[in-house]
Amino acid sequence: MTHFHYQQGELFAEGVRASEIARQFGTPCYVYSRAALEQSLAAYQQALADVPHLICYAVKANSSLAVLDILARQGAGFDIVSIGELERVVAAGGDPAKTVFSGVGKTAAEMARALELGIHCFNLESAAELEVLNRVAAERGVVAPVSVRVNPDVDARTHPYISTGLKENKFGVTMEEALRVYRRAAELPHVAVRGLDCHIGSQLTELTPFIDALRRLLTLVDQLASEGISIEHLDLGGGLGVRYRDEEPPSIASYVAAIRAELGERQVQLVLEPGRSIAANAGLLLTTVEYTKPTPAHNFALVDAGMNDMIRPALYQAWLDIQPIEARTEVQPRTWDIVGPVCETADFLGKGRELAIADGDVLALFGAGAYGFTMSSNYNSRPRAAEVIVDGEQLHLARRRETLEDLLRGEQRLPDKG
Ligand code: LLP
Repeated sequence: MTHFHYQQGELFAEGVRASEIARQFGTPCYVYSRAALEQSLAAYQQALADVPHLICYAVKANSSLAVLDILARQGAGFDIVSIGELERVVAAGGDPAKTVFSGVGKTAAEMARALELGIHCFNLESAAELEVLNRVAAERGVVAPVSVRVNPDVDARTHPYISTGLKENKFGVTMEEALRVYRRAAELPHVAVRGLDCHIGSQLTELTPFIDALRRLLTLVDQLASEGISIEHLDLGGGLGVRYRDEEPPSIASYVAAIRAELGERQVQLVLEPGRSIAANAGLLLTTVEYTKPTPAHNFALVDAGMNDMIRPALYQAWLDIQPIEARTEVQPRTWDIVGPVCETADFLGKGRELAIADGDVLALFGAGAYGFTMSSNYNSRPRAAEVIVDGEQLHLARRRETLEDLLRGEQRLPDKG
């Protein structure tokens, strides 16, 4: 069941009218459904209930403390790519021991903090990073748990900007290089080989690339075993797509079932790093129509959310559904381009939408729970939006709207020339 639904022409988020949320918190405002977040995490948990597993929610998708809190309470682990994300996990009550650290550019300081907190595993992305981690762990007198992120060179058939598992991408190491990195890791005193990792891309709507990648990983696991290097966990990354429009991605259950079928009787812990499939459809963005501006070429609806609030349409030509939160019967539908106030032609949320709207209406942008707020910025000196959790009939302000003071925090003018 969807946690955002219309009742007699009015949009509800769980048990609360969207109009009430807009009234209380203003717009632009991100709204996340607690039940929706819990439901998608539960789908992963149920599909994996009888095998050793760790679900590491990819924090980059939506790193709101309240969202992390909801997922941590339900037992999720986390996939992080910076120390900032790790501190968020800790602040939200997440368990570092269930956290994996991905990313191509981990600094020595980030490694030191992650070692101090005792994370589950470092997903190494280069031979050079292995040497730095060994040194940092030696300085602290500890042993760092590691996986190597392999780039299996499979085509994820998704948008090129979010495809990561092709050999021309900067991520991971080739299969051949991985062997060398593992051999070296096995020699080093301050790292311990724990797993094997990959992540091939995001918004995948087919199972084949996942399974192709997994098969390649398994040949490597066997090769490593023959050299006496044993792998305790297999981390298949994230990437399962969601429906924004008419995509038909596999369900969480069938995705997990396909992986399990391929793994057969192998005794490994399965680690997954889902982001979008947990958060995207658990969130929407509310925005108000400030002006309607019909022109000979296009009818523009100028709304108060811009590309600084939601960059996915501008950056990836992403299509997100846009609907008024209250149906209007007295206004004729027209074709609208929904555009923001930012001074860029790329500042649009949707183009060519058939909608019956007028100035002052509040619109909902669906599928905005992942890579929405986390990719927002202060471009054009625009304060970032508020974030609200809806939980049944309850509303919880997860992040207050930024103020103009927030915008200037940390900055200073030059001293007088003297
Ligand atoms: N693990 C790693 C190592 C990743 O790089 C990512 C996403 C994930 C897990 C989570 O993938 P997901 O399950 O969310 O597909 N900003 C883009 C998406 C970038 C994804 C980057 N990596 C967008 O808005 O479409």
